[in-house]
Amino acid sequence: MDLGEHTLLITGGGKKLGRFFVERFLAEGAGHIVATCWHSCDTVPQDPRVTVIRQNLMEERAAENLVAELDRRGLQVDILINNAGVFDPTDLAHLTPGHWRKLMHINLKAPYLLSVLLGLRMKERGWGRIVNIADVWGLKPLKGRSVYSVSKAALVMATRSLAIELAPEVRVNALAPGPVWFPETMTEEEKRRAVDRVPLQRKGEPEELFQALRFLLDSPFMTGVVLPVDGGRHLR
Ligand SMILES: NC(=O)c1ccc[n+]([C@@H]2O[C@H](COP(=O)([O-])OP(=O)(O)OC[C@H]3O[C@@H](n4cnc5c(N)ncnc54)[C@H](OP(=O)(O)O)[C@@H]3O)[C@@H](O)[C@H]2O)c1
Repeated sequence: MDLGEHTLLITGGGKKLGRFFVERFLAEGAGHIVATCWHSCDTVPQDPRVTVIRQNLMEERAAENLVAELDRRGLQVDILINNAGVFDPTDLAHLTPGHWRKLMHINLKAPYLLSVLLGLRMKERGWGRIVNIADVWGLKPLKGRSVYSVSKAALVMATRSLAIELAPEVRVNALAPGPVWFPETMTEEEKRRAVDRVPLQRKGEPEELFQALRFLLDSPFMTGVVLPVDGGRHLR
């Protein structure tokens, strides 16, 4: 695919994986990237081909507001990468409606509605690609983070459902990464344990995720696919 002809929207483009994806798409010749951010707008890669839009994805009408802002700026997105997410722990004994709302809004509602709103336009124009960044913990449960797992499992189903709804013009796929970029709060012992049960016995590299992302964007006969990129962690 010639990325130079397309406008990509990447949510969470100011840090970690999202920022890495923006840099890599720029290096691969992307024509225009819209990077959204909330806390990390200062660290979105600076380039004339990058437009930064600040949007809190927890807001009730986040997706609608973001699409309205795209319209105000005359931007037409044809590749959507739903990357932004939160990985908050949810100890059952201390679960609050706030935990539920935050994880569900950012990890599920915003990517789902963005996919619907932008996906329908892509369909109308006759071409579009959507990739959701899910998680191996949307394929199997993660103790202590059940709301996170539920949100990512629902994102997996959103991927499959929208793949049917938006076909044949728009392909919708997902990545289900294993451990790649550890949360800043994780101890060395927790990191060691996270890798211990990965059959390939290591964490993944951001570049390995990017290559899988490119593969999903480029593969013309794939839609509704949820691709684990996790060193085999989904197996045990
Ligand atoms: N890291 C891994 O190894 C791994 C493994 C499996 C799956 N994943 C998934 O991959 C994606 C990226 O993960 P990561 O570890 O690179 O990211 P991260 O550190 O968890 O940050 C995620 C992104 O979400 C954005 N975000 C958080 N709250 C937001 C809000 N209220 N409004 C708008 N944006 C918000 C952040 O933007 P701001 O900082 O600008 O607020 C940030 O760019 C996530 O969906 C995650 O679940 C990651």
